[in-house]
Amino acid sequence: MSNFNIALLPGDGIGPEVVAEGVKVLDAVGARFGHEFTYTEDTVGGAGIDAYGVALRDETLEMCQEQDAVFFGAVGGPKWDDPGAPVRPEQAILGLRKGLGLFANIRPVKMYDFLVDSTALKPDVVRGVDMIVLRELTGGIYFGQPQRQWEENGERHVVDTLAYAEHEIERIVRVGFELAQARRKKLTSVDKANVMASSRLWRAVVLEVAPDYPDVEVEHLLVDACTMHLISRPGDFDVIVAENLFGDILSDEASMLAGSMGMLPSASLGARSRDGTGLGMYEPIHGTAPDIQGQGIANPIAQILSGAMMLRLSLGLEAEAAAIEAAVDAVLAAGHRPADLAGPDDRPKGTAAMGDLIVAALA
Ligand code: IPM
Ligand code: MG
Repeated sequence: MSNFNIALLPGDGIGPEVVAEGVKVLDAVGARFGHEFTYTEDTVGGAGIDAYGVALRDETLEMCQEQDAVFFGAVGGPKWDDPGAPVRPEQAILGLRKGLGLFANIRPVKMYDFLVDSTALKPDVVRGVDMIVLRELTGGIYFGQPQRQWEENGERHVVDTLAYAEHEIERIVRVGFELAQARRKKLTSVDKANVMASSRLWRAVVLEVAPDYPDVEVEHLLVDACTMHLISRPGDFDVIVAENLFGDILSDEASMLAGSMGMLPSASLGARSRDGTGLGMYEPIHGTAPDIQGQGIANPIAQILSGAMMLRLSLGLEAEAAAIEAAVDAVLAAGHRPADLAGPDDRPKGTAAMGDLIVAALA
């Protein structure tokens, strides 16, 4: 019997609804395999602003630092939408990433066969898509200083800074090579080396590190070309590694190749210990979906699959993670569909019903 400590940060909108199903499934897999999960819940995002005046409190960050993993829902909503406001829900995500040192953001994009007709692309183009977008998460233009606006000669000026130290590039690139080694052994490094100094260092580091992974084929793509290739030949990609802002944009584009945002989990990882595990934050890539909040119809699968990634990558529980993934596959194969995936002939299942079906499939 092993015990693991997990921070629960449900956040806003449908976050609490899907996190509840994620916890249901984690507890079921724990019961089956003999593990106990102890949850410490806290309030972040818009709910944090309402309760405490800030999206992320220092004590919340400290609490998360002491856990084995952070299970996160989603933050944001129309109530807190003003981008000029001094406190914004997104500060919770950015603060957790930086504060917990989670530099590697893994976003798997996998096309389920039954969804091939539900993307904007031709079924033949998206069939079999199975890639990871690996995004650098604690550097680049998101965090570079200076970032400010000022007045000069009667007009407004502004600056953002895209800064990287060599070690920040090397550690994310190595994660990319390692992920590729465990998959189809192809790494696409994305940059804008024809224009940007940061990208030239990025490309140089990739070239220097590549000999350590001779079994991995490396492809360099300029980011603008990459956006085109993602649409024209998505099946060719295995692992894509990119700096923070490029990865943000490319991962949203890639998510559209999978047919539904409601299926896609993500992991944000920091430094790993010798056994390969370490603190991480796990969240669905979809947002708070305020339009369907409180209706019990949100698809919990992305959150539940994020739980599987948490078991695998932070807790070292591979068999347990695979059991969740198999249970999700089995429920979908049996024809059950949440509202966002339901066809005209399907009777869609609600959030809790999907969770219950996945729990039942685990048994
Ligand atoms: C994401 C989101 C965030 C980001 C926002 C909410 C700050 O778009 O996780 O991709 O830009 O990183
Ligand atoms: Mg984004």
